[in-house]
Amino acid sequence: MIKKMTGDELKSMLKSNIHFKSLGGLKADDLKLTEAQLVPWRAMKLGLFIHWGLYSILGRGEWVRHNEKIPQEEYARLAERFNPRDFSVQTWVDAARSAGMRYMVLTARHHDGFALWDSPGSYGGFTSQNSAAGRDFVREYTTACRSAGLAVGLYYSPMDWRFPGYFKPKELLDNALLMKKQCHDQVEELVSRYGKIDIIWYDGAWLAHSGSDPDGAWLWDPIALNRTVRRHNPLTAINPRSGLEGDFFCDEGSHPVKGEIVPVPWEKNMCLGSGVSWGYIPDDRVMTLPEVITMLVNVIVRDGNLLLNVGPDADGAIPAEMVERLGELGRFTSRYGESIFATRAGPLQPVDDVFGTTYRDRTVYLHILDTDRLAKLPLVFPSDVLSAEVLTGGRVTLARGEEGICFQVAAEPDAIDTIVRLQLAEPVPPLVFDRFDFQKPAPKAASVKEAL
Ligand code: GLC
Repeated sequence: MIKKMTGDELKSMLKSNIHFKSLGGLKADDLKLTEAQLVPWRAMKLGLFIHWGLYSILGRGEWVRHNEKIPQEEYARLAERFNPRDFSVQTWVDAARSAGMRYMVLTARHHDGFALWDSPGSYGGFTSQNSAAGRDFVREYTTACRSAGLAVGLYYSPMDWRFPGYFKPKELLDNALLMKKQCHDQVEELVSRYGKIDIIWYDGAWLAHSGSDPDGAWLWDPIALNRTVRRHNPLTAINPRSGLEGDFFCDEGSHPVKGEIVPVPWEKNMCLGSGVSWGYIPDDRVMTLPEVITMLVNVIVRDGNLLLNVGPDADGAIPAEMVERLGELGRFTSRYGESIFATRAGPLQPVDDVFGTTYRDRTVYLHILDTDRLAKLPLVFPSDVLSAEVLTGGRVTLARGEEGICFQVAAEPDAIDTIVRLQLAEPVPPLVFDRFDFQKPAPKAASVKEAL
């Protein structure tokens, strides 16, 4: 049984390097998925996030309209140029599959208000169906994901810069309520017209760019909004950024992930690029393969999922270097997928930059980032270690002492993540967290750190 996190405990996480967004969202127990219902979401581990829309034409990021104060009439004219003729959503699906990813999340509608589907609820009919393309990209996307066996996620921004009521919700309440109506109508379209939606990924339920998402709940009524989601799609995993607590927490951005196993369902979302922007910018720096693998390991040994973002250009093309990196990542995930997918973090607490563990039943995987430092750590497992084998090449020797087992691994010199598979005598018992506070590491982890 994993303990539920509440107010102050949740807030304490803000002091750690994991910055969960939208803490303190409204609670509605009947809307929350149970741990059992979340198992498929947890098992997926790795997904592709796509930021794509009119802003991709300008190539200066998805905030370009707001940052450069582009008047709406001028911005809206981009729709006349939005026509990726030779583009097929299949290329995105192929890129995700090549990385071994299990799910995707597409910006169905970002803050600029432009909907990538045929949306009757769109204020002013600002949609890809009404653009030069004349296409419903959400339909193309949901169909392509499903036929490739990828779970379908849709990003949706409740807020919309086109509404003056967004900037002055109290003074211009009627206008703000029009924006709210658009949000409720459009979310209903997304969850009722495109079959099973596995993930609803909100972003931007705050108001006037101030406060947090829960602060905007008085306007958006996220409980009613998500009741609609549940009515059509009972098992959708909902993120917390509509002002409702939702089913999983979000750590956004390129900062590293450190600390203990996080005792709530959570997802790291970040850019495969430099992180300067989520939408397309030309010649962006791309993460190296070691950076990507290290991040993935740091996330899964803390029980999270990793959602990696790319910004395709106006023609829908994902920058070539990103496609290449995703393919390289796929070579890693296809060889060592058993230590990643459908695992849980544990049974040991990770030690930053040294190692962490994942497990399934009685098989435990040591993910080792620093074999030299690991060799000095006596590790204690919940039951006997019957066998140990290095999956990534090399040899392992076990030195059993009173304090635990030390693992000496002669690894491949350029290994980024050296993976050792252990068979335990008993299945790993479910993790129990009786306390969670990033400021005070659990005793076991503390003693391990002291030993370094
Ligand atoms: C940030 C960006 C937003 C982007 C989101 C993805 O909030 O401002 O544009 O869509 O991250 O999580």
